This record gives sequence, C-alpha cells and structure tokens, in this order.
Amino acid sequence: MNAGATDEQTWRHVDSYIDRTLGLGDPVLDAALKASDAAGLPRIAVSASQGEFLSLLARLVGARRILEIGTLGGYSTICLARALPQDGRLVTLEFDPRHAEVARGNIAAAGLADRVEVRVGPALDSLPLLQQERSAPFDLVFIDADKVNSGNYVRWALELGRPGTLIIVDNVVRDGHLADVGSEQPEIRGSQEAVELIAAEPRLRGTVLQTVGGKGYDGFALALVGE
Ligand code: SAH
Ligand code: DHB
Ligand code: MG
Repeated sequence: MNAGATDEQTWRHVDSYIDRTLGLGDPVLDAALKASDAAGLPRIAVSASQGEFLSLLARLVGARRILEIGTLGGYSTICLARALPQDGRLVTLEFDPRHAEVARGNIAAAGLADRVEVRVGPALDSLPLLQQERSAPFDLVFIDADKVNSGNYVRWALELGRPGTLIIVDNVVRDGHLADVGSEQPEIRGSQEAVELIAAEPRLRGTVLQTVGGKGYDGFALALVGE
C-alpha cells in the first residue's frame, strides 16, 4: 500500500480495515442497509466509520435533542440516536415517503423508535412548523438532504439551535468541486453557501474536514454556534 496509495481502491481497503478492527457496521446497521437495498433506495448513506464519527460528535456535545435533515433509510439516524440518553429525542426530516417508511422500519428494528420521529415533507416546509412548536433548542443538527439548500439549512440550524449547538453538513467537498469558485452548479453553490455562511455569521465558528473512504472523496463542514 504505497504506490497509488491515494486511489479509491485503497480508501475502500482502509475503510474495511477500520470497520473490521473497530467492529463498526454491526448487525443492526447491516440489516438497515440490506432493507434499504431491498427497497431500492440509493446507496448514499454515510459509511460505517462516518456514522461512528457522527455518533462520537453527538456524545462529545452531550446531545439530548438532535435534528437531522435528510433521513434516507435511517442509517445516520440510527448512528446519531444511539448517542442519545434514554429520554433523548431525534427529529429527522425526509422528503420521500418511501424513504421515510423504510427508515421507520430500520429505526424500530434498531430499538430506537421511542426516541426518533420521522417527519415527511420538504424540509423547508417542516422547519418553520418545527419552529412554531417552540420546543427546546436542538443540541446537534446534521444536514444531509438536497445539497442546493445546505446554506438555507445552516440558517435554520441557527434558528433552532442555541449557543453550543453543533452543526454538521455532509458532502460539502464533492470530489473537490467545493473549490470551483464561480461554479454555476446549484449543488456546489449550496455547499459553498454553507461554508460562506460559517465565515460570515459572527455566531458561527467552524471548518471543513476533507474525507476519503468507501464513499470516495468528500467532506463535512462542522460549525459551533456561539453567543
Ligand atoms: N442521512 C442519510 C442519507 C440522506 S440521503 C444517511 O446518511 O443515512 C438524502 C436524503 O434527503 C434522501 O432520502 C432524500 O429523499 C432527502 N431529501 C432530498 N430533498 C429533500 C428535502 N427538500 N427535504 C427533505 N429531505 C430531502
Ligand atoms: C449523495 C447524497 C449524499 O447525502 C451522499 O452522502 C452522497 C451522495 C447523492 O445525492 O449523490
Ligand atoms: Mg450525505
């Protein structure tokens, strides 16, 4: 593993070493992927090691209330919800009712149905409703839906968070296209807007972490809400 050590085959090889050695991608998560495949969902969930990273971040901030935007089959949902205390709560927003149905099954099979609520609809419709409920602020927000709106979702995370809330945005690096200044591709603009907002918004401090692995070359934006 030296020559060509940057190719995707190597990244996949190392991901599988990490998963095997750390015991990630356990039977419950594997079953969730299997059920998602069987239902014809796209294979775009976070990887096992990324899921554990999300879970670790939720534990680090002591999250009791988590908001997720973009559920798919509930893989990342399960990873995040596992970090919650018994009386914790996770609300996850999903546009596609078919995805939501598969996710509900996977979440129930993971024994997390008591902590997780899947809400169906375009997130930009669900978010104002969530705000109207005036429930306690979210401690962590994971943004992983339509990339064109990633910047808008960071803005919503600020609305629904509090000082100390951690905001995580998936898929901002997109094979390096994040750095395509002047790009007219809406998904890239969305990712750039999320990062630009972290810079422009005085209440946010954060960074972008580039990642490689079985899912290719991508990265997370991470931002902490301050006063
Ligand atoms: N977080 C998941 C992957 C999410 S994939 C995981 O890692 O396991 C992105 C999901 O966002 C898809 O299920 C898609 O249907 C959903 N989505 C796309 N546009 C949306 C919107 N406007 N509102 C809510 N969900 C949306
Ligand atoms: C895609 C979406 C994701 O959330 C992801 O992590 C990877 C790929 C996609 O739409 O292709
Ligand atoms: Mg993603």
